Amino acid sequence: MKWNAIVLAALLGLGGTAALAEEVDGKALVEQNCQGCHDDRIYTRPNRIIHSLPDLENRVRFCETQNGKQWSEAQIEAVVQYLNRAYYRFR
Ligand code: HEC
Repeated sequence: MKWNAIVLAALLGLGGTAALAEEVDGKALVEQNCQGCHDDRIYTRPNRIIHSLPDLENRVRFCETQNGKQWSEAQIEAVVQYLNRAYYRFR
């Protein structure tokens, strides 16, 4: 009853915000800013140039600067996390 409601609220609250903060943000940033020179097929091309998480972060910073953006650390991190989860899957 009361106890159930509290547990449910806690579960929904935690799961909901964690997923939103990372996923929606990074994905939207890539979709809105990163399709000008290449589309998302480049992240899975056979001869891809990114082979580690630090590589990926450097590349995101490079492409972001090339694109004339000035993203915050949080935005860079969200995009790195999104690309890693959706395509690269480094640990
Ligand atoms: C000014 C043009 C340009 C824009 C805009 C751009 N990129 Fe790139 N990106 C490139 C080029 C060119 C390459 C391929 C470099 C190579 O093959 O050596 C590349 C490659 C990449 C790769 C490596 C793909 C691989 O081989 O695994 C990643 C990751 C990447 N871009 C991320 C992004 C992100 C994130 C954004 C948005 C912030 C973005 N790019 C926007 C030009 C751009």
